[in-house]
Amino acid sequence: MTVIAVVPGDGIGPEVTDEAVKVLDELGLGLDFDHLDEVNATTFRKTGAGLSPEDFERIRSAKSVLFGAIGAPGINNSEYGRGVLIKMRFELDLYVNHRPAFLWDARLSPLRDERRRNVDCVIVRENSEGLYVGVGGRVRADTPDEIAIDEEVNTYRGVSRVLDYALSIARKSVCLVDKSNAVPNGGKLWQRCWREAIERRPDIDCSHLYVDAAAMKLIADPSVFDVIVTNNSYGDILSDLTAQLAGGLGMAASANLNPKTGFGVYEPVHGSAPDIAGQGKANPVGAILSAALLCEGIGLSEAALAIRGAVSTAVSAGRCTPDIGGSLSTQEAGAAIRAELR
Ligand code: NAD
Ligand code: IPM
Ligand code: MN
Repeated sequence: MTVIAVVPGDGIGPEVTDEAVKVLDELGLGLDFDHLDEVNATTFRKTGAGLSPEDFERIRSAKSVLFGAIGAPGINNSEYGRGVLIKMRFELDLYVNHRPAFLWDARLSPLRDERRRNVDCVIVRENSEGLYVGVGGRVRADTPDEIAIDEEVNTYRGVSRVLDYALSIARKSVCLVDKSNAVPNGGKLWQRCWREAIERRPDIDCSHLYVDAAAMKLIADPSVFDVIVTNNSYGDILSDLTAQLAGGLGMAASANLNPKTGFGVYEPVHGSAPDIAGQGKANPVGAILSAALLCEGIGLSEAALAIRGAVSTAVSAGRCTPDIGGSLSTQEAGAAIRAELR
């Protein structure tokens, strides 16, 4: 049996993850789900820990993981996030965060110029270092003299391997996005690794943009981008931007991957959305497309294609949630996608 660990989390996490699991069930793929429902903010409040050692072991021993979202008002979301999501990314060395954006229907684009609407790109976000390493500290905390330091860590090995991944998935081109005109040390390292990486792949069309210009260009004409590779923080920000270019956060899927071991944590890009949690309003497409990425990751490419086809048909027909112009609930939108699989 292929075991998939399922971590629904908080807020809309369980609502959308349920729909993703039902889609996988519908396809009869012979997957066995290990549900870790206890990983949530209530447990964190009680125990002060995100993932217990036992939870972590269940996750590690699964084939891959389907993840919902975590986060809740009134708790220390940075400690909680570091105890669950960042812990998985770092300790399982999931050094790639693969975040595709695809415009399933032209009506979902916020752009007026029809010629430039087309979005079909992947943000490859470095997922194991950068500003997220947690190196630093606070001095004279909670006084007017407070100093807070978060170091950004970039390593030759870490940068080279994520650039190589980006080049390996390119269909047309790869654009490196950094801020090497202002950040001197990490900037030099990324530029050095980039020169070496593109020499290994002379067949790929390569370009470079500073992150401020990349943000502008993504709005001006997103249709020119194929793969964008960037660091942990810029990748976080730009992937919400590309999500909105393709209909919003409810549409965006992602895969946290270690391409060498094949292990992955698959999750929608969005968070727990406390503002709409429990109301049946959450769009399940990001979670369902994350399940499609999971299928691809474990060698079930046909299932992935079938899921994408079903999403495309349901979304184009308006059988979807209000955030993308429909009137269905989360469960009804999930059912509409499953109906296309029969
Ligand atoms: P968010 O992604 O939860 O929500 C941002 C906005 O997008 C909200 O208005 C929300 O209603 C909307 N939205 C998000 N997903 C949607 C969906 N599926 N359908 C329809 N609308 C949707 O981001 P936030 O509000 O900044 O963060 C809320 C909590 O989630 C915080 O605790 C944050 O730390 C956490 N978070 C977790 C993850 C994760 O688990 N991967 C990612 C981002 C944020
Ligand atoms: C994401 C989220 C996380 C991140 C948060 C919740 C730590 O925003 O997955 O995009 O910044 O990586
Ligand atoms: Mn984010």
